[in-house]
Amino acid sequence: MNVDTSALFAPIVIKGHTVANRFSVAPMTRISATEEGRATERMTRYYERFARGGFGTVITEGIYTDQAFSQGYVNQPGITNEAQANAWKPVVSGLKAHGTLAVAQLMHAGAISQSNRFCGSTVGPSSVQPKGEQMTFYHGKDRYSLPAAMTEAQIADAIDGFAESAARAIEVAGFEAIEIHGANGYLLDQFLTDYINSRTDRWGGSTENRVRLILETLKAVRARVGARVPVGVRLSQGKVNDYHQKWAGGERDAEIIFGSLADAGADFIHVTEFEAWQPAFAEDGPSLMRLAKHYAPKAVILANGSLHDIARAAAAMNEGADIITIGRGALANPDLPRRLSDRAVLNDFDPAILGPIADVKETELKM
Ligand SMILES: Cc1cc2nc3c(=O)[nH]c(=O)nc-3n(C[C@H](O)[C@H](O)[C@H](O)COP(=O)(O)O)c2cc1C
Repeated sequence: MNVDTSALFAPIVIKGHTVANRFSVAPMTRISATEEGRATERMTRYYERFARGGFGTVITEGIYTDQAFSQGYVNQPGITNEAQANAWKPVVSGLKAHGTLAVAQLMHAGAISQSNRFCGSTVGPSSVQPKGEQMTFYHGKDRYSLPAAMTEAQIADAIDGFAESAARAIEVAGFEAIEIHGANGYLLDQFLTDYINSRTDRWGGSTENRVRLILETLKAVRARVGARVPVGVRLSQGKVNDYHQKWAGGERDAEIIFGSLADAGADFIHVTEFEAWQPAFAEDGPSLMRLAKHYAPKAVILANGSLHDIARAAAAMNEGADIITIGRGALANPDLPRRLSDRAVLNDFDPAILGPIADVKETELKM
């Protein structure tokens, strides 16, 4: 293989944090916390392997942000109080011990919450039946519940939940950066999506209105954690319950969304597609990562989607990506950066790792 991969192994500085290389573990929910949403010793060992294996950055699984409607799954970790925040400390120390950047992903499940020990009902932008069925590997069954449309007060509480959780993540748990989960069909993406959000107030209608909740969340998090902490947003077109959804306004939507995130001071933007290099909209058009770089040129661009192949990853760096995030490839190869630098063979991803339930397995930790 004759591909120049040196850019992937070059350090990058993000707001004063020197990150050793361009490989990051993508956020992956593994429902291995306690019933009370506290990170466990098994999770510490699970995350530490990626740091030992050479990943410059690790983004956690989606962590729920409040004790109202945000929890999505049984045994999902939260960061809604001191005890939950303290439970993340060993995970974070394990990452930092290897010089790996520790990023907390904050997530509100909204209308596609499958289980929430604080509340038996769900909310979303509008009372619209979510597409698809719950995920069985997260203990789901049948259709999603019909959500209630959020009130102004509930929207304000959700924003506050992100901001307070971000503060606990930085100040208590010791995380170094915050990723706001605006992708994959969860609450913030529900607001962004035209067919899910039918509101007629300032949170619905135009793309500018639909992106508002993401921007307000970003601003609230920023106000709480300060200018020095890297804060970014993850975005996608597809969803866990609707893989093929596209932004209805095409490239113009990309301009509004990425441009407004840049204006609001996002330090990084994490874009995910099934295959990151594919045209985002029209055939032969630019990929989402290229559009993100184009409309938010100062933000660090994280690109995700089937990029475990080193040639694909190297090509993504020429397409505007600054960091490559890897999901399934990292589960199969917790030491993927080391293997790539040694030109060693990669293990194929075996979906059995996630079956029948997606929790972290002891056998996996022996890899
Ligand atoms: C088991 C599993 C759990 C996931 N959980 C999350 C999550 O909590 N937050 C998130 O933003 N993406 C989540 N994702 C999506 C991944 O971050 C990533 O986008 C996806 O695996 C595609 O990247 P890949 O082709 O490198 O696997 C999850 C993916 C998997 C396989």
